[in-house]
Amino acid sequence: MSQWDEIYADLESRGFEAFSDEQRAGTAWLDEFLPLLGTPEGESLDLGCGMGSDMLRYAELGWQPTGVDLSPKAVEHVRKLGFTALEADMSQRLPFDDERFDVVTGRCSLHFLPRAQTQTLFDEIRRILKPGGKLLFIVNSEAHRVQRLQYDYEGASRLDENYWEIPSIGRRYLFYTLDLAQELLADGWKILHLDERPFQQWGIEKRAIACVAERTQDLE
Ligand SMILES: C[S@@+](CC[C@H](N)C(=O)[O-])C[C@H]1O[C@@H](n2cnc3c(N)ncnc32)[C@H](O)[C@@H]1O
Repeated sequence: MSQWDEIYADLESRGFEAFSDEQRAGTAWLDEFLPLLGTPEGESLDLGCGMGSDMLRYAELGWQPTGVDLSPKAVEHVRKLGFTALEADMSQRLPFDDERFDVVTGRCSLHFLPRAQTQTLFDEIRRILKPGGKLLFIVNSEAHRVQRLQYDYEGASRLDENYWEIPSIGRRYLFYTLDLAQELLADGWKILHLDERPFQQWGIEKRAIACVAERTQDLE
C-alpha cells in the first residue's frame, strides 16, 4: 500500500467524513479566489483530490467536479461521494481531451514532481483547459522548507533545482518560489493572482505559494 493509501485508510478507519466541520473549514481557502474564477457552473478538475473535500465545495458552487488521484483509496472514497474520480498519475499525460475544463485546481498536490516534469504537468493542464479557463493552486514554498528544516526535515537533500528528498517523511517536494511559479506559467498563461502566505493544511502550518492563472487563447 502506498503512503497516501495508508494515510487515507487510517482516516477512514477513524470515521473520516469529507465534509465534517473541520474538513469544511479546510475548504475556506477557496473562497477568496472565487471572484477570479468567476462562477463557471461548468466542469472543474481537482488534481490530487485526496478524499474530495474541495470537490464537495465545488459541487456546492454549481460546478461539476472530477477528481484525479494516484491513491486508489482516495478515488474509491470520492466515488462513494457520488463524483467522477480517476486513478491517474499527474507525471503522465492527463487522461482528458483538449479544452475540456473550465477550472483546474490543486490543493497541496502540484509540488511532488521535479521541475521539468512539473513544467510538463502545467503544459498538460493548459491543454485540457478551455481558452479563458482558470488554474487555481496552492503549494509548499521554499520558505516552508527552510522553516521545517528546524523540525522534521532533518536529513533533507537537494536532488535538483528546488526539488528535495525528505527521508524523515519519505517524500520528495518541489518547493516553489514566486519566480518559479512565474516561470512555470510563462507560456500561454496570464497570472491573475500570485502571493506567498501562511497556510494551514491538515493542522500543519505552512508557508505556501497561492496562484490563479488564466489560460490565454494562444501560445506566444
Ligand atoms: C497533501 S494531499 C492533498 C489532498 C487534497 N488536495 C486535500 O487538500 O485534501 C496530496 C494528494 O496528491 C496525491 N498525489 C501525489 N502524487 C500524485 C501524482 N503523481 N498523481 C496524482 N496524484 C498524486 C496524493 O495521493 C494525495 O492525495
